[in-house]
Amino acid sequence: MKPLIATLSLLFATAAAAEDALAPISGYAFMEPSTRELQDDDFLNPAFFLIDRGLTLWDQPAPNTGLSCRSCHQTIEDDMRGVAARYPHYDVGQSRLMNLEMKINSEIVEKLGSTPLAYGSEDLLAFTALIGLQSRQMPMSVDVTDETKDWLVRGQEIFETKRGQLNLSCEDCHQNHWGEKLRGDTISQGQINAFPIFRLTWGEAGSRHRMFTWCMESIRSEPYAPGSDEYLALEFFLAVRGNGLPMEAPGVRR
Ligand code: HEC
Ligand code: HEC
Repeated sequence: MKPLIATLSLLFATAAAAEDALAPISGYAFMEPSTRELQDDDFLNPAFFLIDRGLTLWDQPAPNTGLSCRSCHQTIEDDMRGVAARYPHYDVGQSRLMNLEMKINSEIVEKLGSTPLAYGSEDLLAFTALIGLQSRQMPMSVDVTDETKDWLVRGQEIFETKRGQLNLSCEDCHQNHWGEKLRGDTISQGQINAFPIFRLTWGEAGSRHRMFTWCMESIRSEPYAPGSDEYLALEFFLAVRGNGLPMEAPGVRR
């Protein structure tokens, strides 16, 4: 990990880039052309196996009730259109802020009478990819309401808190130094409009919360748990910060 520290001290010796108002730019813009091509072509996009898996799950009857998602949501294209772009979202039925993974799991439990999927499991990624695809090119449009404004404050705090052995915040890299090089990467704004993504360096697909963990571990700080309130708050803050960006799920990143 030595090279990381070396690069970082170089990095922060340069003048702070864009401290002020942030016009959202997708991580796509910071990718090599060869990576963008993978995302642009559904046949080459390595995340697309999740769509096939999602379509199978959509029709699969639950053992107890015999119901599937399709029993109530007949056409995914109509029923799930624009849904992912609105999450995290205050759920009136459950009286709480929920991200898409939480909502899918609550549908599995409440409507199908089945058991929830593990965070980060391939099946939960498949559902988020399939539902995410129905918002492709639609602008992220996450609302802040009276019920959720405290979540936003908490998410911003987490984003701005310096942490770990390198004493860095998310903000240090993704707000103040985006566009600069760090090891093989160009630091992006840390936007979340393309998730779930297939990350070539992982060789697999991952959720927003997995990405947060990767960043926290790379600055050698203790990550939160996927699905935790801390990550939900962070996700909500990042979604609001990125409002207006076209959805790209399922995306491809380096
Ligand atoms: C028994 C009927 C029924 C079944 C089965 C069902 N749903 Fe739903 N679903 C609903 C209804 C009604 C709503 C709207 C009210 C609500 O949010 O609970 C909804 C809402 C949703 C939403 C939120 C939409 C929004 O605009 O925010 C998602 C996402 C969703 N369902 C996904 C699923 C998935 C995935 C499955 C299968 C695992 C599923 N549902 C199974 C009836 C059902
Ligand atoms: C040392 C710099 C650094 C810090 C600090 C950091 N990240 Fe990252 N992050 C990266 C790099 C490098 C990547 C991969 C290239 C890119 O997309 O920026 C990345 C990627 C991401 C992405 C994916 C962007 C996309 O378009 O797919 C998100 C989201 C993200 N980071 C969020 C966070 C959050 C939240 C924190 C704070 C917990 C954080 N990062 C802290 C360097 C950092």
